[in-house]
Amino acid sequence: MSFPHHRPRRLRTTPAMRRLTAEHRLAPADLILPAFIREGLSEPNPIASMPGVVQHTTDTLKRAAAEAVELGVGGIMLFGIPETRDAEGTASLDPDGVLNKAIRDVRSEVGDSLVVMSDVCLDEFTDHGHCGVLDSDGYVDNDATLDIYAKMAVAQADAGAHALGPSGMMDGQIGVIRQALEDAGHVNTAVVAYAAKYASAFYGPFREAVDSQLKGDRRTYQMDAANRREAIQEVELDLAEGADMVMVKPAMSYLDILADVAEMSPVPVAAYQISGEYAMIEAAAANGWIDRRAAITESVLGIRRAGANIVLTYWASEIAGWLKES
Ligand code: PBG
Repeated sequence: MSFPHHRPRRLRTTPAMRRLTAEHRLAPADLILPAFIREGLSEPNPIASMPGVVQHTTDTLKRAAAEAVELGVGGIMLFGIPETRDAEGTASLDPDGVLNKAIRDVRSEVGDSLVVMSDVCLDEFTDHGHCGVLDSDGYVDNDATLDIYAKMAVAQADAGAHALGPSGMMDGQIGVIRQALEDAGHVNTAVVAYAAKYASAFYGPFREAVDSQLKGDRRTYQMDAANRREAIQEVELDLAEGADMVMVKPAMSYLDILADVAEMSPVPVAAYQISGEYAMIEAAAANGWIDRRAAITESVLGIRRAGANIVLTYWASEIAGWLKES
């Protein structure tokens, strides 16, 4: 038997037909804008490897958050760059430290109209740039780091974060943070687990963005790019420890992981389109090698299609603006 009348092209004939039959579409509410604030700045500071992204002052951060609300963006993820660093990252616990203050400032600007999230990790605060504290051999000490994450989480929840993003890949971090939040009465503060976070060369521009002091790499705690099955174990552990959402990171080189996680996760799945993914597209577009807007849209749509409910992307507000226009 043959079916000579099957023509998949029928559903591609007009823009209206394609719109009607699209399986996925982008919406501002599914996007999260990652944003950087640097202590002591009087003017926003451009990040050379991330054209269009800046280290914010308090004022420009508040404006970016207000703009995100205006555009219907779903959330903002805050990263802080402190003026002083030490081996334990103690500035992360100061209620008036750069990140905790930024959470308060952004909350006072946007209230509940944007999900305000913050990075629970020590790498921006340590003078060695690792995501945790070091033992006498220079190895990142998992359990000593957990004690600090617990305090950091409570400080960020006290400052008003709706959701926390522990990104350090310490074993047990979700459970310890959840327990600390419960003990402090922050029962409604959500935890977005960076569950499957890989050691990636594509974090390069972010390290400029946060003025990272890291020498070496994070391969003793972040996942190995060779591994797929292991991502499921990481997600299952984080779910058992109480994660409210799980994340895959990076996004574009890890779409198989995203599809696996989307298949099994009972909670919303986020993907982080990271700094190097942003930089690649910006650089190619700046050279006139690709159509910038089309490439950005396609890249984020691909991440949604692979299974992400939520995408963290430095283009969140810009994409939301395009969606508003059309
Ligand atoms: C760690 C952290 C990193 C990113 C987000 N959180 C860097 C790292 O793990 O080295 C990278 C995000 C990006 O590259 O856009 N706090």
